[in-house]
Amino acid sequence: MNAKIAVLPGDGIGPEVIEQALKVMNAIADRFNHEFTYCFGDVGGIAIDKTGNPLPQETLDSCLNSDAVLFGAIGDPKYDNDPKAKVRPEQGLLGMRKALGLFCNIRPVTIFKNLKHLSPIKETYLDGVDMVIYRELIGGIYFGPKGRSEDNTSAHDTCVYSIDEIERIAHLAFQQAMKRRKHLTLVDKANVLETSRLWREHIQRIATEYPEVETNYMFVDNAAMQLIVYPAQFDVVLTGNMFGDIISDESSVLVGSLGLLPSASIGEKTSVFEPIHGSYPQGAGKDIANPIATVLSASLLLDHLGLTEESNVVKNAVSRFLEAGIGTPDLKGATEVSCSKAGDLLEALVMDDDLVLSSEKFATGSSTII
Ligand code: IPM
Ligand code: MN
Repeated sequence: MNAKIAVLPGDGIGPEVIEQALKVMNAIADRFNHEFTYCFGDVGGIAIDKTGNPLPQETLDSCLNSDAVLFGAIGDPKYDNDPKAKVRPEQGLLGMRKALGLFCNIRPVTIFKNLKHLSPIKETYLDGVDMVIYRELIGGIYFGPKGRSEDNTSAHDTCVYSIDEIERIAHLAFQQAMKRRKHLTLVDKANVLETSRLWREHIQRIATEYPEVETNYMFVDNAAMQLIVYPAQFDVVLTGNMFGDIISDESSVLVGSLGLLPSASIGEKTSVFEPIHGSYPQGAGKDIANPIATVLSASLLLDHLGLTEESNVVKNAVSRFLEAGIGTPDLKGATEVSCSKAGDLLEALVMDDDLVLSSEKFATGSSTII
């Protein structure tokens, strides 16, 4: 297959983790005879520094001309404590989501069995946790009318949802539930918000088209608690933009490191694959970032291109890597490797299904692999 992939490394650790994901992509291209053409673009803080615009037209055009987009991270602390900043790196991400019509953000939450000790949640609660969050990404309070009063003494953000916006993500979520454990939970705040009542009304209607799926409904405050006390009850979680943002960060705690979770944002024009973590500016340039979330995002990208076997090879390489007890410093207790070394090892694992890593050999420096 020939595929054109726009690569947007962004800020902070973005370029480092993207570099490792590209090693893995290139290994897949080699092994399965594909040709991936990468088109690099700037987004976020680095794009502001270079052009004044967090999402230059050139970057957007290259995304629109690609089969998929691989995205690193954006954000720079120099903007975080300046609420008056006129341009912000996040505008690059939000602008891209809107311009590409990325309405459906998918965040799988899978527990890696030998990393349970990393989670602050007791291990017994983690048994059976395997869920996927479907977060609406270009509507709701993020994109509704917002502003300040003329005298600047009040401000507003408005949550707006249309039936169309609810329907298109709902069908993707129900279809996913059909392929999984056939269970879907709508997370909303229908006891208070009109938009949530619209969600509930239409999810109840759409649910009748998927009679095999057991659909249930949960207020977001309760869901926030249930995610901690009984996370294994969730299969597909469907929710709006803001609630999805919050509960997906919360659910990453179950896994033990934000550095492990990938995401896919399915769009009308193209789709974007990115780790759920941010730009971790404190770690930038130190070669300590965990590339696994980005490597798994590349695996989702391959699957989206229809390359199911290739996608599984990457997932499998990540499992073998973690099962060997090797990891970047965020995976406490693992034999420590740098971000770039982790990328080299993952590349080697992708190339060779029989390769077994040994953490003892790494610890003693006697490994002959790479
Ligand atoms: C995410 C991030 C973004 C969001 C920020 C960086 C704008 O937190 O992708 O979850 O709020 O959607
Ligand atoms: Mn977030």
